[in-house]
Amino acid sequence: MGHKAVASDAAAPHVLVFPVPAQGHINCMMHFATGLVAAGLHVTFLHSDHNLRRLGDARAAPAADTPRLRFLSVPDGLPDDHARAIGGGIMGLLESLRTKGSVAYRSLLASLVRGAGDNSNDGFPPVSCVFADGLMPFAVDIAEEIGVPALVFRTASACSVLANMSIPRLFELGELPFRSGDDLDEPVRGVPGMEGFLRRRDLPSYFRTCTENHTDPMVKMLMDVTAHSCRARAVVLNTAASLEGSAVAHIATHVRDVFAVGPLHAMFPAPASNASLWRADDGCMAWLDGQPDRSVVYVSLGSLVTISKEQFTEFLSGLVSAGYPFLWVLRPDMVGASESAALREAVTSAGESKARVVGWAPQLDVLRHRAVGCFLTHAGWNSTVEAAAEGVPMVCWPFFADQQINSRFVGAVWRTGLDMKDVCDRAVVARMIREAMESPKIRASAKALARQVRCDVADGGTSAVEFERLVEFIKNLST
Ligand code: UDX
Repeated sequence: MGHKAVASDAAAPHVLVFPVPAQGHINCMMHFATGLVAAGLHVTFLHSDHNLRRLGDARAAPAADTPRLRFLSVPDGLPDDHARAIGGGIMGLLESLRTKGSVAYRSLLASLVRGAGDNSNDGFPPVSCVFADGLMPFAVDIAEEIGVPALVFRTASACSVLANMSIPRLFELGELPFRSGDDLDEPVRGVPGMEGFLRRRDLPSYFRTCTENHTDPMVKMLMDVTAHSCRARAVVLNTAASLEGSAVAHIATHVRDVFAVGPLHAMFPAPASNASLWRADDGCMAWLDGQPDRSVVYVSLGSLVTISKEQFTEFLSGLVSAGYPFLWVLRPDMVGASESAALREAVTSAGESKARVVGWAPQLDVLRHRAVGCFLTHAGWNSTVEAAAEGVPMVCWPFFADQQINSRFVGAVWRTGLDMKDVCDRAVVARMIREAMESPKIRASAKALARQVRCDVADGGTSAVEFERLVEFIKNLST
């Protein structure tokens, strides 16, 4: 935590960091970029044109004392009013980036390798290394074609990456595809190190619909990107030994090299630039200041989840009947206008001191606040590690992708919360919130895990040492 900044060196390597242009990917890769800059490297952070416009010039600018970081952008190929990945439709965004965005990416990268960036090169040396989001294999392949070494950054949990690596084995063992009538509570064989606790329902969401001949487009995509990650020079993961040491060790047997350098928000807590696509409502911090210690339920389902009117009603009823004050993030694009109005009305009737709704929260600050007693989350990987690092108990309602397996880790491996997977019922919501708020066992496990994570990210800790090894790896590529 708070690793020392290194003085500027014009000859230091110049790294291009290219996340999938979605909030969960941008956030951890921004903390990663912050760490690279602190280690003395130059970083060009590549947004999509759409997101850079959304961030706005002022908000996207690096802090004045960060001259080695700058932002450029490429088109994602979609119209401005497109939903992009909201609601789980990430395939369309990825395909558009591959077919359309890649053209601009290729020519931009070629110019950055020659040392000429957009208009001026801001004194940056030529790009000597690329970190591309593992969901965009084209970004790695183009870089290598141009002659720039490229590494893969996976933003999801190591356990989900390992589950994806195990897909061929799961088919071989007959665990996939699921047959109608299969009991989802049955244990799954074939994901190494997880035989003791992984059930069918805990596999990443896409596995539920895949067919014998692997034709499910999402599963095929996951198999392709996973095979691609295995061929890459190295894979970087936003995780730590205390969170997923066993999964990282198994991944190491499939890839050329792996660096577990997370949780990056805890390694480099002050991001070099604002990366938030929504403007956070800071007023909720003053509201939290007025609440007793560990009294508030923080509710947020990340940046992509949408919920139905029925689910919304169950959550709201459960929250009200649990009886604790709550702070609920209700993104404008997450429910219909009528649901949003209903929630605001419910808040008014509950009274301002009892509940607060915001469109977007400063989540890291909220999770660090003494008033927060538990986190009702979709178990997106960033949210999961952010709560783990703060020792906040969780109630998980996973929506899609890696969230199903992440929430199993919370409920059955770390025991830092409860897994509400596949159930959205007011009585269950209320019961689990009460338990997460009151259970001394869950709170003790959450605090113990947070202590271990703090050790991982402290100087000399496993993640800090891995980050130093990664910086050396980059420097060696550049010589
Ligand atoms: C998704 C997947 O869920 C995740 O598992 C994958 O690895 C990356 O993409 P998302 O669904 O948005 O991301 O969830 P999450 O990974 O939790 O990321 C959301 C980010 O937005 C977190 O860093 C969180 O701190 C931030 N956030 C969320 C806010 O800053 N304010 C909010 O109000 C809500």
